[in-house]
Amino acid sequence: MYIGVASYKSSSNCSNSGSLKMGVMRYVAIMFIGVLGYVVCSEAQLQPGFYSKSCPKAEKIVQDFVHEHIHNAPSLAAAFLRMHFHDCFVRGCDASLLLNSTSSNQAEKSGGPNLSLRGFDFIDRVKSLLEAECPGIVSCADTVALVARDSVVATGGPFWKVPTGRRDGTISMASEALANIPAPTSNFSNLQTHFGNKGLDLKDLVLLSGAHTIGITRCSSIANRLYNFTGVGDQDPALDSEYAANLKARKCKTPTDNTTLLEMDPGSHRTFDLSYYSLVLKRRGIFQSDAALTTNPTSKSYITQLLQGPLEDFYSEFAKSMEKMGRVNVKTGTEGEIRKHCAVVNS
Ligand code: HEM
Ligand SMILES: *[C@@H]1O[C@H](CO)[C@@H](O)[C@H](O)[C@H]1NC(C)=O
Ligand SMILES: *[C@@H]1O[C@H](CO)[C@@H](O)[C@H](O)[C@H]1NC(C)=O
Ligand SMILES: *[C@@H]1O[C@H](CO)[C@@H](O)[C@H](O)[C@H]1NC(C)=O
Ligand SMILES: *[C@@H]1O[C@H](CO)[C@@H](O)[C@H](O)[C@H]1NC(C)=O
Ligand SMILES: *[C@@H]1O[C@H](CO)[C@@H](O)[C@H](O)[C@H]1NC(C)=O
Repeated sequence: MYIGVASYKSSSNCSNSGSLKMGVMRYVAIMFIGVLGYVVCSEAQLQPGFYSKSCPKAEKIVQDFVHEHIHNAPSLAAAFLRMHFHDCFVRGCDASLLLNSTSSNQAEKSGGPNLSLRGFDFIDRVKSLLEAECPGIVSCADTVALVARDSVVATGGPFWKVPTGRRDGTISMASEALANIPAPTSNFSNLQTHFGNKGLDLKDLVLLSGAHTIGITRCSSIANRLYNFTGVGDQDPALDSEYAANLKARKCKTPTDNTTLLEMDPGSHRTFDLSYYSLVLKRRGIFQSDAALTTNPTSKSYITQLLQGPLEDFYSEFAKSMEKMGRVNVKTGTEGEIRKHCAVVNS
């Protein structure tokens, strides 16, 4: 089996069609190898500067647009980082998240975990510049990945590599967003399962959760922790009670407030620093999923280690995990399509 995978990997042919002639037993085996091979093939095809010949200015166009416009709305950096995460966790990083619902389909965008996803028009504007420069060449999936990276960098956060060559999916289903994106009420094992399903390990989970060092949420996302944790009008005991009292007095004054916005890392919600991790250890992580990172000894000690710094260590480890997340189930080669408009599949 292992040899099969190895030889498949060394082959440059990424097609599965040969398996059709096999007997049933071998067919099953080859299917399995094929699935692994598929991942290997796909990963092998993302490459730095994929557009260097087909659209040499592509990455510069994205970067320039981001630099020019992100400062008018710096909070969008967080939105794009989250957008990239949500995209990658549902059907791989294939811009399925950008597709609009149709009369016959509820798209990911309209699924439960879509709260506060924003910045779609910004992506559309970048994409139209790319289409003007080289029609039909640069995918929406790569556009999202590049915009996420460039906007985080432009607002003072870490840099990570974005190899390109992703292609766009044609399917987007709200139900799949619900199934694949971990809920803020997740416990540690829920989180580990969701991340594990995407080939991401415990370290990736801790590092990528560090993205909550920037950005906002709303009271409705934590109302249960503050007001009715187990259905008897109680508070989440894992949330620091002083912090909870403060939130109730100053921010989320009623259990039904569904509009007030809340910084996840108060005081430094635009700064990509380590304070998210200090909050988590002080039982002030905003979601149960943040608090859950302290319930596993390995994860907790990794947080302690990150806090010992320097910040550059977090940045470089975060970068590795982001690059890994950006490869999750990507479509490459002749899979999918290059959408003309990110909100609709090509006709
Ligand atoms: C570990 C599981 C995760 C859970 C349960 C989770 C959950 C959430 C929730 C509920 C919100 C607030 C949405 C709202 O109230 O409007 C949020 C915001 C955010 N999340 Fe996560 N998240 C997770 C992991 C990640 C990852 C892996 C990233 C990126 C690498 C990320 C980046 C962000 C950012 C940047 C925001 C702020 C968005 C904004 O300001 O618009 N999250 N997350
Ligand atoms: C997609 O939906 C958004 C929001 O409803 C709308 O503004 C936009 O025009 C739609 N895009 C297309 C191409 O239909
Ligand atoms: C998010 O989902 C809700 C509920 O399904 C829906 O009403 C809302 O329009 C969606 N938001 C966006 C931006 O599509
Ligand atoms: C985590 O939550 C799931 C339900 O989402 C539950 O079945 C499981 O028992 C919980 N695990 C722990 C360790 O609490
Ligand atoms: C808390 O939740 C329970 C069960 O969902 C509900 O019956 C009760 O009315 C809620 N209490 C408050 C104060 O919202
Ligand atoms: C938010 O709360 C207001 C007032 O309680 C209510 O009228 C509105 O329908 C709620 N909106 C959502 C999206 O739940």
